[in-house]
Amino acid sequence: MEKDFSQLDEILEMYRGKPGILIPLLQDVQNLLGYLPKDAMRYIAQKMNIPAADIFGVATFYSMFKLKPQGKHIIRICKGTACHVSDADGIKEALIDALQLPEGEDTTQDMHFTLMEVACLGCCSLAPVIMIDDTTYGKLVPESIPPILERYAFEEKQ
Ligand code: FES
Repeated sequence: MEKDFSQLDEILEMYRGKPGILIPLLQDVQNLLGYLPKDAMRYIAQKMNIPAADIFGVATFYSMFKLKPQGKHIIRICKGTACHVSDADGIKEALIDALQLPEGEDTTQDMHFTLMEVACLGCCSLAPVIMIDDTTYGKLVPESIPPILERYAFEEKQ
C-alpha cells in the first residue's frame, strides 16, 4: 500500500513553479521527516512533475541528505589526515564496539546513535577527533569512548 505523504503538500506548494528549487525543497522535506524516504521522493516527483531520477540524483549526490532514518545523536568521526595518522581507525573500532553496530550498519538498533565518517572537522590539533551533535571531543584514545557515550545514556534518563 502506498504511504500517505500529503503532509508534504504545503512544502511542495511553496516551491511550485519556481526554478532551482530541488535542493531547498528536499532540505525542507528532510527537516520535516528526519530523512528522505524513497516513497517520499517518488511522491515529490509525481506531484511536482520532476523526473524521479533527478530527485534521487540530487539526494544521493549531496552528503547532507539522509536516505535512512538517523539516530537521535549523530557521531561524526574525522577521517582527515591528522586524525588518520593519530589512530582514527582505532577510535572508529572503539565506537563500533561500544555501540554494538552490526557490520554495514551505521545506526544503533534503539535509534539512539548514528555514526558517520567525515573529512576534517577543522580542529586537527586535537586529533583524533569526534563530534557528537555539536560537541567536539579530541585527543582521544579508544578507552575514551565508552565514558563519553555513557554521558549521553545518562542524559536520557534525567
Ligand atoms: S583531520 Fe581531523 S580535525 Fe582535521
